[in-house]
Amino acid sequence: MKREILEKLLPVSPSDNFWQRIDQYPLNLITLSREQRDKCILEIHKKLFDENIVKSGPSRQKDWLTGWGENLRNYKKSKDPKDLIPKYYNKYKFIRFDSDLYTFQNDETELNTVRILINYIADIYLRKSNTIIELGAGTCHHLYELSKILNPSTNFYALDWSESTTKIAERLKDNNHMKNIKSFKFDFFNPDWDNIHKIPEANQSIVFSFAALEQIGSDFKKLYNFINVKIKPLYVVHLEPIGELLPDNDLLSLLSKKYFLKRNYLNGYLDFLRNKANNKEIIIETQSRMPFGSLFIEGYSLVVWRPLQK
Ligand SMILES: C[S@@+](CC[C@H](N)C(=O)[O-])C[C@H]1O[C@@H](n2cnc3c(N)ncnc32)[C@H](O)[C@@H]1O
Repeated sequence: MKREILEKLLPVSPSDNFWQRIDQYPLNLITLSREQRDKCILEIHKKLFDENIVKSGPSRQKDWLTGWGENLRNYKKSKDPKDLIPKYYNKYKFIRFDSDLYTFQNDETELNTVRILINYIADIYLRKSNTIIELGAGTCHHLYELSKILNPSTNFYALDWSESTTKIAERLKDNNHMKNIKSFKFDFFNPDWDNIHKIPEANQSIVFSFAALEQIGSDFKKLYNFINVKIKPLYVVHLEPIGELLPDNDLLSLLSKKYFLKRNYLNGYLDFLRNKANNKEIIIETQSRMPFGSLFIEGYSLVVWRPLQK
């Protein structure tokens, strides 16, 4: 991806270090023919009317345990961190870039867009702290990537309601793939810090989430309070589906919003944060669409906020 093209689509300018690093994540996007684009839109349309589509919410906990359990088994056998990459990347041969759809030949393209986003938030925000807490860490593959970028003394916390996450974190340590990773079971609907690990000091940690809060619909108030009152981080950085940022007068963006609703994805969170900012409870540092998405959604908008300590 040419720097001049990507640079214009990013809300904050990253460092030269970022541009050097992302050379290892090439994207050779291929423009679609009209027929290909129509087929994609039909595919999205079909999903929007699929009565059996899986909705996110409390009943899905088991699915995540099973799904990440498979990654854990493979990683245990191979000891190769590549086995921590979720299987849903590259399921479809299309991605969104700059509000349009593209195809590609390299099977790692979708994953590369995700790596670019993680490197971006690392470069702008995460490197400001020695304590990084990931909400909904899944297979810990983002934390593994971050451990290669950030200061080696950084402490990582992998929180997720899937016990497989904690087992993967333990394995990462046993296999010497990560040094400072801690993990415990954590439920967004009933958030609580566990008794074994000391909660990081106020104003020290950075909390981030990537396509994880997406799973909680409009049930985010308890989690917000927990972050704001108990963790009191320096920053909270989300790359999540944020309908408030997507315009209705653009077909793909509108379909993306419809898909969020159909799957019960995150809904109303940014408006809620804007309210809190108006009440001087928090400051919103960044709220922006980002260049990448998958076939069905533009699901990685960037929202960065921080508590206003009283
Ligand atoms: C789409 S996956 C993303 C995982 C990881 N962030 C990534 O990008 O690879 C969503 C993650 O959120 C977690 N999750 C969903 N609902 C949750 C809840 N109520 N409490 C804690 N974790 C939850 C799932 O277990 C899963 O790991």
